[in-house]
Amino acid sequence: MRILFATGNENKIVEAQEVLESLGHTVEGLVIDGQRPNFDEPKELGLEGVAESKIRQALDLIKGSELDGSAILVEDSGIFLDAFPEWPGAQSSDVEKEIGLEGIIDRVKESGNSGAEYRAVAILSNGNQVWKSQGICRGKISDYPRGSYGFGYDPIFIPEEGGGGTFGELGKEIKNQISHRKKVMQGLSNLLKSPSR
Ligand code: IMP
Repeated sequence: MRILFATGNENKIVEAQEVLESLGHTVEGLVIDGQRPNFDEPKELGLEGVAESKIRQALDLIKGSELDGSAILVEDSGIFLDAFPEWPGAQSSDVEKEIGLEGIIDRVKESGNSGAEYRAVAILSNGNQVWKSQGICRGKISDYPRGSYGFGYDPIFIPEEGGGGTFGELGKEIKNQISHRKKVMQGLSNLLKSPSR
């Protein structure tokens, strides 16, 4: 399936391509009037609410255009710290800008609980049918940033299945096998193979 990913985050597009193209799909970033879409995000609604809002906005944007009827993908994701329920969650990018990775590490150290998980919710729709999936990657926060691969919280996130390295150190081969994004995109691909609802 040809999938148009409505996001302004180039890293997400690359990771979705690496996962979904190995499953037989093509992924391109949605561009409208030469620009990537920039959605309003009602973060108080959580990841699923934000993803639902993004797909509504994306389908509205392409209504009546030559892209009407295309398969549009949106995704909302974030990191959730065990010590602070639902935080930073849907506000992960804002919190990262406000206090930085060192600020996160300090909060985690103060709490004495380094458990964390990435979560992602993805929704795919062609305007008629809707497919929704979620992916979780369990892990913990490191004592200091390590490695430079990826984006966002990757230098401080140690996935359970990664042998102790952060995603920043493990690189794309490993991240694409075990990440929340891998799981959420794999889930969507599985749903696409099932009879439509
Ligand atoms: P969104 O664009 O509103 O979904 O925000 C996602 C934010 O969550 C990113 O800007 C990062 O702060 C964080 N995040 C989500 N997925 C990842 C990931 O795979 N690596 C690192 N940070 C992530």
